Amino acid sequence: MYGARSYDDLVFKDDLFNIWPDMPDTSVHVTVDVGSPGWEGKVGFVPPYLEECAFSPENRVAVLCGPPIMITMCMKSLAKMGFADEQIVTTLEMRMQCGIGKCGRCNIGSKLVCIDGPVFTKAELNELPEEM
Ligand code: FES
Repeated sequence: MYGARSYDDLVFKDDLFNIWPDMPDTSVHVTVDVGSPGWEGKVGFVPPYLEECAFSPENRVAVLCGPPIMITMCMKSLAKMGFADEQIVTTLEMRMQCGIGKCGRCNIGSKLVCIDGPVFTKAELNELPEEM
């Protein structure tokens, strides 16, 4: 599932519309926040579209990247859909500066995102201090 502000903001259009939909075991769901002339696809934000698609959590992992508010809202949607915290994965690389454990800018409690992550499950994030 992929969302962007508008059709013009979508990247990898050839892959999204011509290549990935024909790949085995792959379904592609694209939405834009604002429609435009010629766009006949979904219009709306990712979290409600995620719930509308109603993916089963069985044998699945959800990997989230994007703006923090979108990630937060998608985590809530996935929880409503029955995904366990261990099945939800995201990345915190936006907190990183040096990326090699030297500057200390990426610490969350006792963790350094650049060393201990930057990819964490929601279950792991739940163990970190509330600053998230
Ligand atoms: S980014 Fe500098 S310590 Fe993690």
